[in-house]
Amino acid sequence: MSGLEHTHGDITHTHDAPAEGAGYLTEIDHIGLAVNDIEATTSWYEKMFGAKVAHQERIESDGVEEALIKVADSYLQILTPYADTSPLKKWMDRNGEGIHHVGYRVNSTEEVLEHCKSEGARVVDEHPRTGSRGTTVAFLHPKSSFGALIELVQE
Ligand code: CO
Repeated sequence: MSGLEHTHGDITHTHDAPAEGAGYLTEIDHIGLAVNDIEATTSWYEKMFGAKVAHQERIESDGVEEALIKVADSYLQILTPYADTSPLKKWMDRNGEGIHHVGYRVNSTEEVLEHCKSEGARVVDEHPRTGSRGTTVAFLHPKSSFGALIELVQE
């Protein structure tokens, strides 16, 4: 990371020093898996690994159902679309089942999103919004991040 001083429009300000090593990324929050059958998938994880669902939620804003399996301090986020208008449905029509995105924990989604925008990243979300578990999230577009859809997650 080059310097802590950033300019957004005509505003220049200084960030607090980020954590050593991974910069703004403090932890892996979750791996998002796109599946056709959420019950079959969670049953499989239980049968194979004894892993149980820690949280289930319907995320209206994304048109998806999620089941979270906790792995240490991170989650497997098992996702399936419930509406044809869901962006995940469109993604699965092209790609099928598989790893859909990586969620990185950050201290401030807004700060990191603005930083990435100022450094030229394409974004899916222009502004942070509410994600599952009441987190504050924003997605970066895979076109400018070497094919990986990235989610910033602030708890
Ligand atoms: Co996610």
